[in-house]
Amino acid sequence: MRALVTGGAGFIGSTLVDRLLAEGHAVDVVDDLSTGSLANLASARIAATQGAELSVHQLDIRHPELVELAVRRSPDVIYHLAAQADVRVSVARPVFDAEVNVIGTLQVLEAARACSASKVVFAASGGTLYGDADLEELPVDERHERRPLSPYGVSKLTGLNYLAMYRELHQLEYVALALGNVYGPRQDPHGEAGVIAIFAGNLKAGAPCTIYGDGCQTRDFVFVDDVVDAFVRAGSRGSGLIANIGTGVPVSVNELYATMARVYGSDAAPRHVPARPGELRNNALDPGRASLYLGWQPWTSMEDGLRAVFTSIS
Ligand SMILES: NC(=O)c1ccc[n+]([C@@H]2O[C@H](COP(=O)([O-])OP(=O)(O)OC[C@H]3O[C@@H](n4cnc5c(N)ncnc54)[C@H](O)[C@@H]3O)[C@@H](O)[C@H]2O)c1
Repeated sequence: MRALVTGGAGFIGSTLVDRLLAEGHAVDVVDDLSTGSLANLASARIAATQGAELSVHQLDIRHPELVELAVRRSPDVIYHLAAQADVRVSVARPVFDAEVNVIGTLQVLEAARACSASKVVFAASGGTLYGDADLEELPVDERHERRPLSPYGVSKLTGLNYLAMYRELHQLEYVALALGNVYGPRQDPHGEAGVIAIFAGNLKAGAPCTIYGDGCQTRDFVFVDDVVDAFVRAGSRGSGLIANIGTGVPVSVNELYATMARVYGSDAAPRHVPARPGELRNNALDPGRASLYLGWQPWTSMEDGLRAVFTSIS
């Protein structure tokens, strides 16, 4: 199979590229390196020196050249992960967010249509799609009302709407994965989604970890290898499908910190500061549909995932 991975130099995208190459697929990476880096592709490039088929194209997905590139490379499956992925940036620069996440996604769909790709697998956001749920509503499933509370949530939801429309209009097949809070090696500690990367770096450096508000806000932390497994499965299974990719277990930031400190062997106390306005209170995603249609389940325990994160930080 030939795959084209947009955002393939990013945290999740590069981990997906490694897995696709390891399975013997040919991979084209399209990335403008705005938040991703070639360093994330170091092991993929080593694999390429040993016979794996990898091409890296530094290109903005909004550029019309993407369509020509797709026709030239003729991928079977397009994994679309390139995005403006920072909620706070989307609030500060909603037009830019829409340019990348709406117009960029549209360009990717045009590219998929032009090269007759068999499928697009899209990185949707389960953390923003459903808005704020009550604790008793958790974990939310895909039938939950969609009420994004940020420009990023709206632009990602718009991507879903375009996917559904392209399937009807152009018979372009898709699977959209609504991801929880993904964590693992290569996550940028400067990104806003990277609380685990931030805590891990601080614990290792002996610096205090900051918890915003009371720390009772919950998230669904899912390990990157498990997420990548869902992407790979979605390349060959599922049709017109949106599926949550999470553990289904809400974990509070306080619990997360306690687990991380225990796994690392630190008895340092976290620092509490006032809550950030607009922050989501509760999130956890029911992964039942992914289990049914993709045969997917999260298998990495939080302790094992956290150990992998600590090991990856030099
Ligand atoms: N990390 C999470 O917890 C999470 C949760 C839900 C959804 N997602 C989605 O998963 C995808 C990957 O996220 P990530 O955490 O790996 O983020 P990331 O920032 O590491 O990866 C995004 C990649 O897209 C590239 N990119 C950005 N704009 C581009 C453009 N205009 N043209 C070409 N490339 C561009 C960046 O350089 C980067 O390599 C994103 O679509 C994100 O919205 C991530």
